[in-house]
Amino acid sequence: MIGRLNHVAIAVPDLTAATAVYRDTLGGRVSAMVDQPDHGVTTVFVELPNTKIELLGALGEASPIRGFLEKNPSGGIHHLCYEVDDILAARDRLQAAGARVIGDGNPKIGAHGKPVLFLHPKDFCGTLVELEQA
Ligand code: CO
Repeated sequence: MIGRLNHVAIAVPDLTAATAVYRDTLGGRVSAMVDQPDHGVTTVFVELPNTKIELLGALGEASPIRGFLEKNPSGGIHHLCYEVDDILAARDRLQAAGARVIGDGNPKIGAHGKPVLFLHPKDFCGTLVELEQA
């Protein structure tokens, strides 16, 4: 069911500094910063030949990554995003298997303008998983 690794997301306390690390130190091709108010984050994507890195900065006091950054003050890997062909079919299959979908269970439009869902880390080897309909 899961397909390509769409991106690895890294939550960071200072998105400008993290972008500079990926652009200047690692020589990566980085996007502009984009606020994602529906998700409470600001994103920068680093384009790699085989996948992407999503740098996440907190947007607003209620940002869902604030707790993660309190536990990981220098930042850390926040989630993995796998592509699926049909997000509703994937959700139904996972829920039937007992997996927990975060939120109300309905896909939201993610950072690439495509529907996404997040799955509870306790059900997936301690890793927050994002599914994106490719
Ligand atoms: Co993501």
